[in-house]
Formats: sequence, structure tokens, C-alpha cells
Amino acid sequence: MSLHLRYRREFLRFLAASPLMAYGLREAWAQEPAAAPIAKDVLSVMDFEALAKPKLPPAHWGYMASGTDDNLTLQANMAAYKTIQLRPRRLVDVSKIDMGVELFGQRFASPIFICPVGGHRMFHPDGEVATARAAKAKNAMQVLSTQTSIAVEDVAAARGSGLWYQLYIPNTWDDTEKVVRRVEAAGCPALVWTIDLLGGRNLETATRFQRTDTRQCVACHASATGGRRESAMFKGLSGTRFNPSNATWDWVGRLKKMTSMKVLVKGLETAEDARLARESGADGILVSNHGGRATETLRGTIDALPEVIDAVNNQIPVLVDGGVRRGSDAFKALAYGARAVGIGRPYTWGLASYGQEGVERVLEILNAELTLTMRQCGTPSVGQITRAHVRHV
Ligand code: FNR
Repeated sequence: MSLHLRYRREFLRFLAASPLMAYGLREAWAQEPAAAPIAKDVLSVMDFEALAKPKLPPAHWGYMASGTDDNLTLQANMAAYKTIQLRPRRLVDVSKIDMGVELFGQRFASPIFICPVGGHRMFHPDGEVATARAAKAKNAMQVLSTQTSIAVEDVAAARGSGLWYQLYIPNTWDDTEKVVRRVEAAGCPALVWTIDLLGGRNLETATRFQRTDTRQCVACHASATGGRRESAMFKGLSGTRFNPSNATWDWVGRLKKMTSMKVLVKGLETAEDARLARESGADGILVSNHGGRATETLRGTIDALPEVIDAVNNQIPVLVDGGVRRGSDAFKALAYGARAVGIGRPYTWGLASYGQEGVERVLEILNAELTLTMRQCGTPSVGQITRAHVRHV
């Protein structure tokens, strides 16, 4: 038990025994909501989900929690990790664990990275800047969403260096070029083009929560369905529409010609598309189903990962996200060949609960769990984790 909790418990015991309780304080006390522990006391990533929910208005909670249709893909992402067993190896010197990874010449303290999630100010007033400060403190890779509530220039400054940018392609190439130039000027080394929302989606759970929210959404949003009044990354563009449904694989080449930044594609799940991504010149792939928020495929991303890894045959790095809630989940993804493993909802729970400190604690917990798993499995560095360390049941 932490010092903080012990002192608090002792204080409560003292107060309960005090004659003051006879004079009305008892009632005042009874009305006080149970104090949340400090961020350092939170034990697991899932505990943050419970802490975050009461802090958010229903519409914002619903937006974050929602998957598509029946939320079955969202659940499959997590469930799929539980069908993979570990094969620990003993009597390896694990006195020193190195979790460091390198991606396109950038060195990060851990393979666990921060996925693009839109509108962090929906979760905490400090928004993406709080997340970036946490990423900087932990030297974690961070991908900033096109739907960021704070401009890329300010978030890049808070991150210090090496912020990656997630691109939703605007509806015209002129606008796309303007965004790309702006992101380059902010110093981002990599552009992650998300390709899994070009066909639309049904975020039914988000809509259900929104209908229970009694606040006037149009006080903050351009529409009652949540459009932003002033989007930080759409200022100065001819329009605010994006994700044109006529996009095809040759657009990767057009993006590559436009910029010297690395271009990755996010949101593919098959060997066929992995081959096309590589042939189109993509510098990397992020296997993702948008945290179960794009297509109700019913397939966890960890189940899709091996075919993508095999298809690209080590020619470009493959990253994965979706359903990672324990360090051992990250270990399994690394064992299948992922170079880095992303988290979305977990850090937004941390952000909603404690701002920067919460995001830091989420990273700390997952990194500590991954360190433990690496020790227990006899893999002192990330490069030593192989498919032989896992078994699918
Ligand atoms: C997302 N995700 C996402 N992806 C993206 O490319 N651009 C975006 O703007 C967003 N926005 C967004 C909002 C919210 C509320 C969530 C939950 C997710 C998807 C995200 O990058 C990532 O793929 C998933 O969140 C990973 O799954 P988990 O970790 O949430 O299970």
C-alpha cells in the first residue's frame, strides 16, 4: 500500500473515532465522493477506464468508448490476445532489460507508442499538449491525429522533437499539400495516412450516449452531431471535408512525391493490402482496425498481424495497434514481428483521469509489465523476442 493511501486510511480512522462526528460532520463526510487514488496508486490500465468514465460527459465518453455496429471488433481486439499463450524460457541472464527501439533513425525508450486519437480537449483541458509532455517524459513515440484540438506546431513544441503526424487526406490535393507543408515545417519526421475510414462507419454506441447527454452540443460544436467549430488543422484550407472515397493505392506514391517525410499507411489488415502498400512505396505499415471503430470485421488485429508480417518479408517496418491492455499483450505483438505496439483508449483514460500524469502512469504500467514479461520469457532485448516465445491456442 502506498504512503498516500496509508495516511488517508489512518486519517479516516481518526476522524471516525472523533467526537466531531457527533456534530454533523458525519453527514458532510457521507456526501463527499470517494477520493480517487493519486495516479501513482493506480495498478492497471483497466483501472483507468473506471476512473475516467465519471469524469466525462456522456457524449464524450460515448465517443471514446464506441466501436462500430455491435462493438464486436472492439472486443475481438482484446479477446484475441487472450488466445495467445507465452512460452517462457529459463536461465537466461535477464539482469538487464533493454526495451529501446529504433524507427527511421529515431530512438524510443519502449516499443509501446501513443496512437492518434482525435480531440484530446474532449478528455482534458490541456489536451494534446498534456499527452505530448507525457510522451516526452517517457521518450515514447506519439502520433498526432489530424483531428487534434491543438495545432501541430504547439504539440510538436511540447513533445520536443520527433512528433509523428496522422493524416486524413483532405478532399483536394491542393489542401493536402498545404497540410503536408505545415506538418513538415513543424518538424514531423513521419506521416501516417489512415486509410480505414474512406468508406464511412456506424458509431452506434457513440450516438446512443450522445442522446443521453443533456448539454447543448452546439455551444461547442459546429453541429449537434459533433463537428468541430474550428478545426486546428483545417484552418486556411478551401474546405473541411476529408477521406475521399475515391482514393486508391497510387495515392501513396503521390504523397511520397510531395514530401521527404516517411509515409506509412494505417488501417490495413490483409497480406494482399500489405503487398500493395509495399509496392506502392509505403515506408511502413500500421496494422489497425481503428480500435474496432472502422469496419465490423470481427477479427482482432493481433490475428491479422502474422499474414501482414509474412507478406512484407521484413522489407518495411510493421506496427500494430488495437486491444493492447497489458504489457504481455505488447510482448505477443512483438513476438509476431511488430516493430512497435500502439495504444489508443488506455492513454485517453489516463488523460481524462489525471491529465499528463495519468498518461505517464499508463505508459509506466505497460512498460513495467512488458519489462517483467521480457524477464520471465528470457528475452533481454526487444530483438530477441520471437514467435517461438508464443503459442496460439
Ligand atoms: C481513434 N483512432 C484514430 N485513428 C486515427 O488514425 N485518427 C484519429 O483521429 C483517431 N481518432 C480516434 C478517436 C478515439 C476516441 C479512439 C478510441 C480511436 C484509432 C486509434 O489511433 C487506434 O487505432 C486505436 O485506438 C487502437 O485501439 P485501442 O488501443 O483503443 O484498443
